[in-house]
Amino acid sequence: MDRQNTDSLPISLVPDLEVVAQSDEHRRIYTRHFEVPSVPEATRVQRELVKDEVEAFKGANVPDVSTGTFPVAELNLRSHLTALSGQVMAIRVNTYESSGTGGGTRYLTQWFALGGPRVLGTRDLFDSDDDWAEFKEFVLQAATSDTLVLTGSLRELDDSLLDSVNFDAQGNALVEFDDNSLGAGTIGPVTVTVAAEQVSALLSDFGALARTASMSPSPRIQPGQSQDAVAPEAGRSRSQEPGPPSSRRGIDCRTEKCVALTFDDGPGPKTGALLDSLRRGDAPSTFFVTGPNAMLRPDMLQRMASEGHEIGNHTWNHRSLTSLSSAQIRSEIDRTNDMISRAVNQPATLMRPPFGAHNSISDRLASTPVILWDVDTLDWKHRNTEKVVDAAIKQTRPGSIVLMHDIHPSTVAAVPRILSGLKDKGYTFVTVTELMGPAGLEAGESYAHAPRPAKLDNWETGKAGR
Ligand code: NI
Repeated sequence: MDRQNTDSLPISLVPDLEVVAQSDEHRRIYTRHFEVPSVPEATRVQRELVKDEVEAFKGANVPDVSTGTFPVAELNLRSHLTALSGQVMAIRVNTYESSGTGGGTRYLTQWFALGGPRVLGTRDLFDSDDDWAEFKEFVLQAATSDTLVLTGSLRELDDSLLDSVNFDAQGNALVEFDDNSLGAGTIGPVTVTVAAEQVSALLSDFGALARTASMSPSPRIQPGQSQDAVAPEAGRSRSQEPGPPSSRRGIDCRTEKCVALTFDDGPGPKTGALLDSLRRGDAPSTFFVTGPNAMLRPDMLQRMASEGHEIGNHTWNHRSLTSLSSAQIRSEIDRTNDMISRAVNQPATLMRPPFGAHNSISDRLASTPVILWDVDTLDWKHRNTEKVVDAAIKQTRPGSIVLMHDIHPSTVAAVPRILSGLKDKGYTFVTVTELMGPAGLEAGESYAHAPRPAKLDNWETGKAGR
């Protein structure tokens, strides 16, 4: 289903590549782009693309002034590394956009010449104008002979249609067309293959380098950097003793003021610092991780598990599950569980749907309890430490599930004060499973907080939460 991910290269090949994920939970926007300090041009065009896409999406999906609600639309942008050598890097971006009734994916591949950083396009892969014309002819032939492409009327390909060209391991050129771009007769995404022997004679010098960088990629080593730095964190030994597994602590949330802090979308670069804070504050928490981030930082998942935290599934692509087919939902959850299992030898015990978007079908397919929240810190929106602290402390009630995101440094910075503030109000920090207590959680059911204890009012001290 998601060919884009399986075909992309491991981003660890670029030691200074940073994955920047951002989500707007209310408008259902999720973007995951790359920033590469040693290739400033790549950072610049990736940021620009995200900014333009988000602005265009927001412009087209304005809130209903009478109700303040947003249309059920979705934007999901993800970058993938597809070619890399000392001279060349390529980043492919697929952007899914739906207006609520239907949607499609657009593809774009950005090529970079690393010698003197330049952003290049598909045309730069080819030599003379004749070579370019011949390539387009091959693409047209392949497209019209494809049984899925019913493009009888297609005579010529506009250059703008060819903005995502890559090479596979055999050196064939793969041309990805945006959904529906070849006319109403096409079905779903179309990838056209031009054979290696046809394409090789047409390539420019850069195109030849690009093809090699796709067929046999080599890691990027920055000037002055040793080979050891290529795999950061790998094999790093840790000396922390494991924290107390929460189930051994004998906490009963029916008689104690409990709160479950939850962190979504990670692990990210700051998750290690967050785990340090949680350990100091004796605060077992729950992490809803995405598959790609679990793949990127398995050591963080191992730390979570060994320090008494709970790990939940936040799907692979962070798509709104209510707009996917059953098979797609299953794949989103299963792929992520595979990655979690690979890191900590067991699949996720809980699932949180991206954007909180769920229905009876997605709940059933989760095959674990589905966890929502009753305290939304809006940390993704304001990125303001003071506001995160304020929301978490003021809105929490006994049995609350607090939503935060460990991909935002402003949130990680807020946690020490949240811990001391809630502790002052008499709260004990627990995982979601502990919070729900012996009555427990049921697979396929959704929960936004624990049942409120009857004695709630007596417990409220100081300023009452909202
Ligand atoms: Ni999320």
